[in-house]
Amino acid sequence: MQDQIDKILTQAMEKIKQVENSKLLDEIRVQFLGKKGELTSLLKNLGSLSAELRPKMGALVNEAKQKVEAEIEKMKQIIIAEEMKMKFSTERIDVTLPGRVPKRGYKHPLRIVQDEIEEIFLGMGFEIAEGPEIDTDYHNFKALNFGDDHPARDEQDTLYIDDNLLMRTHTSPVQVRTMQQKHPDPIRVICPGRVFRRDTIDATHSPQFHQVEGLIVDKGVRFSDLIGVLKLFAQKMFGQDREIRLRPSFFPFTEPSAEVDVSCMMCGGQGCSFCGKTGWLEILGSGAVHPNVLKMSGYDPEIYTGYAFGMGVERIALLKYRINDIRLLFENDVRFLHQFK
Ligand code: PHE
Repeated sequence: MQDQIDKILTQAMEKIKQVENSKLLDEIRVQFLGKKGELTSLLKNLGSLSAELRPKMGALVNEAKQKVEAEIEKMKQIIIAEEMKMKFSTERIDVTLPGRVPKRGYKHPLRIVQDEIEEIFLGMGFEIAEGPEIDTDYHNFKALNFGDDHPARDEQDTLYIDDNLLMRTHTSPVQVRTMQQKHPDPIRVICPGRVFRRDTIDATHSPQFHQVEGLIVDKGVRFSDLIGVLKLFAQKMFGQDREIRLRPSFFPFTEPSAEVDVSCMMCGGQGCSFCGKTGWLEILGSGAVHPNVLKMSGYDPEIYTGYAFGMGVERIALLKYRINDIRLLFENDVRFLHQFK
């Protein structure tokens, strides 16, 4: 039996020395020291020996077991150290590498244009006023001189929340709200905001878009004041050389009314494909505030005069950036938006 013990011991020691990873080492432990391991089985066989030999052999087997155990433990430390070293070198983090710069957002072209419009009018002493996107029929229509059955309502159909509430079709209701609030003080405001109409989407229409309204009310303001303000705006927005022209138009809340065109920035007014060979591009609607409108909101039209204008932010953006389809402004395709960085 002693031979057997020696043989197993040598074998075990040999195997342990050659082991390469902790999994194999564990297998060796099972092979020799496990419940059915080679040394453990020897212990079980002690019963077949004489009473005299039994303790001696028992001691030898235990001694062998301890040697194997110690060797496994020693090897385990070596392997763990080796494995840690491997892990450190493959998972190394270079803390000296420069960091990744987080991507910064930037303004949408509509925001850029709206900010620019606001900037220009703030520079002329206008204040900014805002109103709700859902407004009453009174503010959106009636107080702007649209009678209940006025045909001009047809051009501005919208979503009705109930008989009285609707999605506003223009920013002109903010004129009404400002006059109600400020009368009889003079007014010089612009009102930027989102508006809604029952329009089918195409290259030039969208059921929601943005406007900037302007309103001046005071004693003795004249049509030439409006023209001066709009000319300065056109030149600041589209270039020093721009001219404006007024064409007669109709709005229920202004009388007289005018559409305002700016001379084409592509051809300088000569006529080209951008301006449809006319040399002019329409930018906004305007007019003298109708006496009925002044009266309904608390200003005596015998004492006060007012001028108003309203422009589409999308339209200004399309002209300024020479974009040919309004849908590009709402689709938010990053390839498009990146160009305004
Ligand atoms: N509210 C008009 C529209 O949306 C524009 C406008 C504003 C015209 C102010 C005249 C004066 O069509």
